[in-house]
Amino acid sequence: MQNFSYYNPTRILFGQGQIAAIAGQIPAGAKVLVTYGGGSIKKNGVYDQVKAALKDHPWLEFGGIEPNPRYETLMRAVALVKSEGVDFLLAVGGGSVADGTKFIAAAARFDGAEPWDILAKHAEVKSAVPLGVVLTLPATGSESNTFAVISRESTGDKLAFGSEHCYPQFAVLDPQTTFSLPPRQVANGIVDAFVHTMEQYMTYPAEAPLQDRLAESILKTLIEVGPQTLASPQDYAARASQVWSATLALNGLIACGVPQDWATHMIGHEITAEFGLDHAQTLAVVLPGLWRNRRVEKHAKLLQYAERIWGIHDGSEEERIEKAIVATEAFFESLGVHTHLGLYGVKDAALAPQKIAARLEAHGFTKLGEHGSVMPAVVREILASRL
Ligand code: NZQ
Ligand code: ZN
Repeated sequence: MQNFSYYNPTRILFGQGQIAAIAGQIPAGAKVLVTYGGGSIKKNGVYDQVKAALKDHPWLEFGGIEPNPRYETLMRAVALVKSEGVDFLLAVGGGSVADGTKFIAAAARFDGAEPWDILAKHAEVKSAVPLGVVLTLPATGSESNTFAVISRESTGDKLAFGSEHCYPQFAVLDPQTTFSLPPRQVANGIVDAFVHTMEQYMTYPAEAPLQDRLAESILKTLIEVGPQTLASPQDYAARASQVWSATLALNGLIACGVPQDWATHMIGHEITAEFGLDHAQTLAVVLPGLWRNRRVEKHAKLLQYAERIWGIHDGSEEERIEKAIVATEAFFESLGVHTHLGLYGVKDAALAPQKIAARLEAHGFTKLGEHGSVMPAVVREILASRL
């Protein structure tokens, strides 16, 4: 096992009715800015629950944070935080609202001239406005991690940052708040959590059997409850398991002491920026292609995955690996998340290998993956196999 340092300060408030508990988590008298997206929280009753919970706090709101949150929009919230003297940010929504709010938190306290540098130049985040999250879409794990992915309309970039100052202080996970999700977002969430687990699992053996088993538990749970929660969106038990799986997939726990990949995500972010696919759709396209391309480096873990997750014992090692990759593609497709670019009807899909590799190069991401072996030429090969 590799050395690691693990600390996750996010208090999880899990279960029905937990929104009411947020008042006790926010300092008395703190002026709160409630941030949200396009309005789903006003239709499903979540906004009203937040409003009731904040009755003893001074608060104001900032809506309109888009999926793949935009820098231009978030900077308007930063101005509001400064002009109104906001003390605490409360993100109410999915990963985009949580991510956007982390950026607002960091940018409002940033002492440089251009907060975009936090993303483009890895400028240091020295402090952030404290924040909490009421999560309405189980997928990203953003409610309990340091990361945020922000898009900039003027340049077409989609870039990530992470800072310990941006850990949410608390996260409310009430599965009932997710019942109103459209099937596409539920399926996206299952795929995103599945691939987060893979980015920390599908590398090479690192004498970390506990982390492997933890990751495998998340994968098996998602394979079991994913179809159930899609078919029965109001089934509390199934949705609760999906919500908890998504949080555990990216709260830092399964990353302890193991190598990590993240090439699928880095390629995927560029696909969203270039072609507009949903985040999880990009992952379903890239992951199987990346595995086939890197199957020598990932040989031992692919075999372990085939056996432990899909119960594949027959055939040569190469055949077992291929069966496991096919089973993964079939799982994504069974959720309605397609695994080839052509199935998303994007214009100029044939140019994807060149365009995406060039984007990664322009951002300096030329040695991706656990071995740094996913170079632009490899990205082109992977995407050429996914058209
Ligand atoms: O904006 P509203 O009206 O709220 O609608 C949203 C949005 O249209 C809707 N929605 C959310 N909760 C709902 C709901 N609709 C009905 N009922 C509810 N309960 O769902 C749509 C998508 O929301 P979004 O937040 O964009 O989805 P998701 O949670 O999948 O977040 C995706 C973003 O997170 C980033 C992605 O790149 C993408 O920008 N990621 C963040 C990560 C992190 N912070 O650790 C890691 C991930 O790998 C990922 O990159
Ligand atoms: Zn993701």
